Amino acid sequence: MTTALITGATAGIGAAFARRLAKDGHDLVLVARDTGRLQAAATELHDRHGVEVEVLAADLSEEDGISSVERRLTDGRTPVDLLVNNAGFGNKGRFLEVSMADELTMLKVHCEAVLRLTSAAVGGMKERGRGGVVNVASVAAFVPRGTYGASKAWVVQFTQGVARDLTGTGVRLMALCPGFVRTEFHERAGMGTDNIPGWMWLDADKLVTAALADLSRGKSLSVPDPRYKVLMGAVKLAPRGLLGGVTSRTGRKYGPQ
Ligand SMILES: NC(=O)c1ccc[n+]([C@@H]2O[C@H](COP(=O)([O-])OP(=O)(O)OC[C@H]3O[C@@H](n4cnc5c(N)ncnc54)[C@H](OP(=O)(O)O)[C@@H]3O)[C@@H](O)[C@H]2O)c1
Repeated sequence: MTTALITGATAGIGAAFARRLAKDGHDLVLVARDTGRLQAAATELHDRHGVEVEVLAADLSEEDGISSVERRLTDGRTPVDLLVNNAGFGNKGRFLEVSMADELTMLKVHCEAVLRLTSAAVGGMKERGRGGVVNVASVAAFVPRGTYGASKAWVVQFTQGVARDLTGTGVRLMALCPGFVRTEFHERAGMGTDNIPGWMWLDADKLVTAALADLSRGKSLSVPDPRYKVLMGAVKLAPRGLLGGVTSRTGRKYGPQ
């Protein structure tokens, strides 16, 4: 029996991690802002799977929120064995159409929170000689795509670098790079998705199954779907200028309407 802490655990990919890990018998610490949804998720997972579920209401765009999760991760009385840094969001619009405050909030949640929570978790994991961290990035990390893509590129580089630094300690880190997943993400950002072809959409539960399999194989980077593996192969070969043009045009369609 181990304990997993998941940020953004009340919806989408984070909720899928919570369902799967509870089903596998892991105790959970669920983190998000909405207390009502956290309590409802905790009750459901406890009743269905018989695991212990704590809730921790925290806004990871605020200093208090990040430090309260850091405190939970460094509490040696109830160690966390798996950290899933998943909380995140999108901003609708191209550069200059998004306020500087919103750009900075994104960097706080996607980068500062991930840096600080990873750091808080891996110290104890290293001492215990085991543990894992999954940092949810995106395939947007590999294409020029504004602050969102840049923040996810940081997540990939950071995670793979730390994974290398911790080789041989028993602590595994993996950056997870999904493509489009059916969650609340696009609706929350006010993004239209009508022009995204059906074949590009992934199922959150299947994504999590593939991600956990990659983590157990010791991968530091997971692009968990054959369709996106092929696409990312093509992206590596394509000239950056061409890619920038394509993603910018795509952004115009599925960003501002
Ligand atoms: N959906 C996709 O197509 C897709 C593709 C690639 C990568 N991703 C990445 O996957 C991750 C999860 O996205 P999702 O699609 O599952 O989104 P989602 O369905 O909108 O869920 C987001 C979760 O994060 C929490 N959250 C948001 N802002 C937060 C904050 N400031 N502090 C704490 N919790 C916060 C939300 O709960 P509260 O609102 O209650 O806080 C919710 O539980 C993100 O990092 C996203 O960038 C998504």
